[in-house]
Amino acid sequence: MTTRIPLIAGNWKMYKNVSESVQTADRLKELAGGVTGVEVMIAPTFPALFPVSKALQGSLISVGAQNMHWEKEGAYTGEISAAMLVAAGCRYVIIGHSERREYFGESDETVNEKIAAAVQTQLIPIMCIGESEKQREAGETFSVLDKQLKMGLKGLFADALQNLVIAYEPIWAIGTGKTATSEQAQEVHLFLRSKLTEMQGESLAKGIRILYGGSVKPQNIAELMAMPDIDGALVGGASLDAETFSKIVHYQSK
Ligand code: 13P
Repeated sequence: MTTRIPLIAGNWKMYKNVSESVQTADRLKELAGGVTGVEVMIAPTFPALFPVSKALQGSLISVGAQNMHWEKEGAYTGEISAAMLVAAGCRYVIIGHSERREYFGESDETVNEKIAAAVQTQLIPIMCIGESEKQREAGETFSVLDKQLKMGLKGLFADALQNLVIAYEPIWAIGTGKTATSEQAQEVHLFLRSKLTEMQGESLAKGIRILYGGSVKPQNIAELMAMPDIDGALVGGASLDAETFSKIVHYQSK
């Protein structure tokens, strides 16, 4: 039987300067630095990656970036490569977040390029997919997700995708306080795993962690995590406060 170690990841988006980030990381290290049975990751802003990864040394908490470029280096003003993220202490990178797709022109094609570059550099991609409210209401949820999944992983196969993480983040649930019910999320996660099985084979699909994201809080995490295909969470707002995020991380001890 494949066991998937749950991953609780905090996406700090464009919040916290360097000293605020280090302060929060220090506190999180005290509260959750030695937690076992669940992996923990935080994704601060670019300037805070290196200092936060230093602050977290000696703990089990990993660091991730919120974006990257697919080229190794070059004249790409404002961009950063996978290898640079690894050198700054990153183990993970969030790719294709809906905010990047909506505000910064990220497409399934760029997501695909970035995932290919991340896995080549041993950086673990967390590929974000999700439908808008309009798409859900029009009954297009599954077709939208199918397309995002297929295009995002185009040309990539089992060997490269051993560590891939998928984050299902329904856009209507991000920062709105509206969480998908655990049943709604489970239905989608099961669909995604069956698509991954078709595309990549059962043994890979069984090992891929599928996170849920969208208004995850200490109050709803246990119910979400009780679902068989929900393997963790990508947390926005509630990850900014170390105490609150630590409660989410310790969902099993409630
Ligand atoms: P919230 O938890 O604030 O809804 O954000 C979710 C998210 O976008 C995580 O990437």
